[in-house]
Amino acid sequence: MKQDHGAHAHDLDPASPEHREDSIELLFQTHFSQRYGAGVPVTADKAASAVRLREVWREHRVGATVGVDVDRFVEDAFLSLQYAYNRKYGQWDKVNDLRALYQDTWHARIAPFTSALPQDATVLGVGANDGREVRQLFGDRDIAIDLLDISSEAISRLGGQLGEFRAVRGFVGSFEDWRPVAADYDLFFSLRTLNSTSVDRAACVRKSVSLVRPGGTLVYSVSNGYIHEVDGVPRAVRGMFSYDTATIDAERPKAIAHEIVDLLCAEDVTVVDVADEPTEIFIIAQKKQSGKVSVHGEL
Ligand SMILES: C[S@@+](CC[C@H](N)C(=O)[O-])C[C@H]1O[C@@H](n2cnc3c(N)ncnc32)[C@H](O)[C@@H]1O
Repeated sequence: MKQDHGAHAHDLDPASPEHREDSIELLFQTHFSQRYGAGVPVTADKAASAVRLREVWREHRVGATVGVDVDRFVEDAFLSLQYAYNRKYGQWDKVNDLRALYQDTWHARIAPFTSALPQDATVLGVGANDGREVRQLFGDRDIAIDLLDISSEAISRLGGQLGEFRAVRGFVGSFEDWRPVAADYDLFFSLRTLNSTSVDRAACVRKSVSLVRPGGTLVYSVSNGYIHEVDGVPRAVRGMFSYDTATIDAERPKAIAHEIVDLLCAEDVTVVDVADEPTEIFIIAQKKQSGKVSVHGEL
């Protein structure tokens, strides 16, 4: 296993292959404008949430302009967002995944929480894609796991990754609008997902806390890099590519992690760990029985 082949942001060409892939925003706009033209101002960050879409519909009088009812509009916008995620993440093997350089260790920080669950524990994973991370996180093949992803293509591949797991259920949809099938999960995890362009972070953090039982565990992570090949050698690059500035922003992952911690601090949880690991920044929290919030760990 290779580790620590650090490259620096200034070594990189923003036009290199890993950056030529389209952004979720661009994919969304391309698909959405085929149906609605350029006159309806919807951005990807509105499309994961029916509440936000209904605001756009009212504010911009979409019914009068385009002649569709609000339910149809919400559905069309969601389908455009789903198209974008299917294109970008429907086949995970096309992704420049930094975890490939840390295959056996990327999850070491969170493994004590995921592998120590009792046999009758229930788990919810959001943004789990085709479920490949589940294989490493949960040793017990009988554990009851619900997995949600906005990409229908990714969820259709769960069977390929999790064939030996006997109690996995897959759901397609945005977490913001998902109708939960339980509200007493022992563990919630959402890795490298709340940093996505379209996510309503505040709504997702609040919802995740509400779906875990008192005393249950919440695990989040924020992407912090990808693989960049230099002379055929894969190297780790830390940071997040910004489509707005076409530069690699080393501070953005930390800012998003801070935001998640702040959102958690407004809830009835204790943040037990914040850890800047080679592939991502992990945030681990525990839902309180009741009482005040406290934070351990630093960025
Ligand atoms: C970068 S991938 C991370 C996949 C996996 N958890 C990992 O860390 O390798 C983000 C995943 O979240 C999904 N996603 C993005 N926004 C979502 C939302 N609002 N609700 C559910 N899934 C979402 C995407 O389709 C994608 O599969």
